[in-house]
Amino acid sequence: MSTKPEISWSLNVILSLLSNVTDFARRSNGTVNRRLLSYLDVMAKGPPQTVNGVKTSDVTVDPTRNLWFRLYVPTDHVNDPSISLPVIVYFHGGGFTFMSADTNMYDWVCRKIARHVPAVVVSVNYRLSPEYRYPSQYDDGFDTLKFLDRGDIEGFPRNADVSRCFMAGDSAGGNLGHHVARRYAERVTEFNKLRAIGLIAIQPFFGGEERTGSETRLDGLTPIVNLERCDWHWKVFLPEGSGSDRDHEVINVFGPNAVDISGLKDFPVTLVVIGGYDPLQDWQRRYYEGLKMSGINARLLEYPGGIHCFFLFSQLPQGSLLITELKNFVHEVSRNLEIK
Ligand SMILES: *[C@@H]1O[C@H](CO)[C@@H](O)[C@H](O)[C@H]1NC(C)=O
Repeated sequence: MSTKPEISWSLNVILSLLSNVTDFARRSNGTVNRRLLSYLDVMAKGPPQTVNGVKTSDVTVDPTRNLWFRLYVPTDHVNDPSISLPVIVYFHGGGFTFMSADTNMYDWVCRKIARHVPAVVVSVNYRLSPEYRYPSQYDDGFDTLKFLDRGDIEGFPRNADVSRCFMAGDSAGGNLGHHVARRYAERVTEFNKLRAIGLIAIQPFFGGEERTGSETRLDGLTPIVNLERCDWHWKVFLPEGSGSDRDHEVINVFGPNAVDISGLKDFPVTLVVIGGYDPLQDWQRRYYEGLKMSGINARLLEYPGGIHCFFLFSQLPQGSLLITELKNFVHEVSRNLEIK
């Protein structure tokens, strides 16, 4: 295998632009130039609309912290009482710092999931670091689950089934999915109807003080992710004063400070997705191994040619393959639930 991924010239331009703008917006003093990013929002964000059989609307969870989600409803399936739709809670990526639920790239991905599975997708607009640090993001994710559990949500189809709830996310969203799943499993008795039965962790953002083989081998050779960027994101994610130790239990989840999750029988069945050109892949493999060692039902899905974020670009073939796998996973986990 070559040391560099094969990416078309035009996609390379997009990836470099994305990397350059976000690098430029990140300041060495740990703040972000939001004004610079807001100019891009004009091109990169869109209002809710009905496209390709999926209707969207934005739903407020808590106005005091501007917590809301974009709801995706597959219109062909809402009036069919013979089927019930699983609910997929999606957490976008962006190092906990960038992107939002109304970013066009994520709108496209969530729309695709809603249509293909089919499912009701809830794309959470959690608060971003460094303005809001850990655990704000996990709080927002968990509180959204509680909000879904309470029900009576405007625009929610009647055949949406919160007892078949999945969490999914890519990159930082995969990390977020894990921690929300863990909190759910720890506090399952607080829920009435909602059951989190699956977690889809797509190239989840984990790390640690150690430099793994894939980080060392691929640093500087692949788009989007490099060591300097990851270190910066972790530094501004942890609360001020808690140092910048990447062996913190929320970053290195199966590292020296790991919290034992082996007793959590309600931790959902987990699908871990990794790419062969992602510097973070060794952390993701350890994550999968750690889940298995903790007695959690976990599977690993590898795309040898996949770069970090491959799921977000229609130009890359692995993205459509993953949609099919994601659909199969949701259906299989839902079916096993019925047998139980
Ligand atoms: C960080 O740098 C920016 C730009 O130089 C400045 O506007 C901002 O006040 C600084 N913030 C802190 C917390 O030092």
